[in-house]
Amino acid sequence: MRSSTVDLVLKNSKIFTYQGIISGGLAVKEGKIYNFLKEPELLRSDKTIDAKGCLLLPGLIDPHVHLRDLQLSYKEDFYTGTCAAATGGVTTVIDMPNTIPRTSSLKTLREKKREAEKKIVVNVAFYAGFPKNTNEVKQIAKEGIKGFKIYPHDPTEEVDFKDEEQIVACLKAAAENNLPVLVHPDELETIKTLQSELEKQKLSDVEVFLGSHPSTSEAKAITKYSDLGVKTECHLHICHVSSSESLVAIKRALSRGARLTCEVTPHHLLLTSEEIKKQGALAKVLPPLRSRDDNVALWAAVLDGVINVIASDHAPHSLSEKEKTFAEAPSGFPGLETLLPLMLTKVAQGDLRLEKLVDLTSSSPAKIFKLENKGMLLEGYDADMVLVDLKEKWRISPEKFHSKSKFSPFKNWNVIGKVRMTFIKGICVMSDGEILVPRGFGNVINGNP
Ligand code: DOR
Ligand code: ZN
Ligand code: ZN
Repeated sequence: MRSSTVDLVLKNSKIFTYQGIISGGLAVKEGKIYNFLKEPELLRSDKTIDAKGCLLLPGLIDPHVHLRDLQLSYKEDFYTGTCAAATGGVTTVIDMPNTIPRTSSLKTLREKKREAEKKIVVNVAFYAGFPKNTNEVKQIAKEGIKGFKIYPHDPTEEVDFKDEEQIVACLKAAAENNLPVLVHPDELETIKTLQSELEKQKLSDVEVFLGSHPSTSEAKAITKYSDLGVKTECHLHICHVSSSESLVAIKRALSRGARLTCEVTPHHLLLTSEEIKKQGALAKVLPPLRSRDDNVALWAAVLDGVINVIASDHAPHSLSEKEKTFAEAPSGFPGLETLLPLMLTKVAQGDLRLEKLVDLTSSSPAKIFKLENKGMLLEGYDADMVLVDLKEKWRISPEKFHSKSKFSPFKNWNVIGKVRMTFIKGICVMSDGEILVPRGFGNVINGNP
């Protein structure tokens, strides 16, 4: 056997770089991108993969994912959730803390990491929730998280978000530890007040749901938190921006000097609340799907750079939970396996430039969440990559998802662009829907605050 110089050569590819697309190959050595090659056959390698003319992109980084493991693992677990990620071309996810138990103690964070190490097939980093005692923030931060997530509308949160002093203490503690705070922009009191007013009227459950989570509440929460962010010099990341009113609030906050980044989901870009009439609780999500005008405003904000990230908000639930009455059914649906094909379809239709898509789904989340050596195809960077066929037309079939949640509001959508292979550090973890690595292959990513 001839001696090997690199670990992998990928040939016949079109490689995405910000300087343009390179036709040729790429070599990987020790998990890193070694070099780009016009004539890859000149390099000795243990393994060669023929990309058959497909496009190689940096693996997606999805900073808004609910993997659900520990006691909600009937909805999703670290294995199924990361298999879904690999299938969707996502090589790194950041896991949300609203699990049972909540990731708001050192003990639970460590337990999650241990469990993840046994099960994950892609890279996973974690967020935490704030502990009741802000003195513990430092210890949790040191354990290597990527930020603190707050749900001011969630009565089970340990912090009282009615109390501005507590919020300020949290934001200060995060800023001192050089970590962002991710905000689900809504307020429990506002929801409760609106709900009780609406329930007195003869309205349907859907109308009560939509009416108690209006765009005005979202925009108000964004303004409130970004003002507190300015006061505490804390970096805030606004999750799942869903409305034009929220964009106005974000632009205003940015002009006041807030350190603010924000994300949008494919469902808020592509769907409206009309979907609830067709799909019922399957299309129930928070923030709710809104109007066509909101879709249009969100696309404009994506294109003009106000929105920094497209994230899935992969929020799996069991089908039996989603089949409850509209009022009882939980909000959310899976998104890891549909994000990239939906967005590649927009690229194919000429509505989104490929460079912009790569920035929103890889480069920009890598920068915001300090994922070093990730998010771009550059020599020396981690060989976390996704190979896509830009031309393949196919239909979304949720029954084939790797996620435990085998439903989607995008069921039967015709899309253009298919994920062929996903690589983590130069190893092919998924090929044509098949997972090729054992449980635990992926890496837990620690932060570097
Ligand atoms: O619809 C949602 N589901 N929105 C959220 O913010 C939370 C998520 C979940 O955890 O199910
Ligand atoms: Zn949320
Ligand atoms: Zn979420």
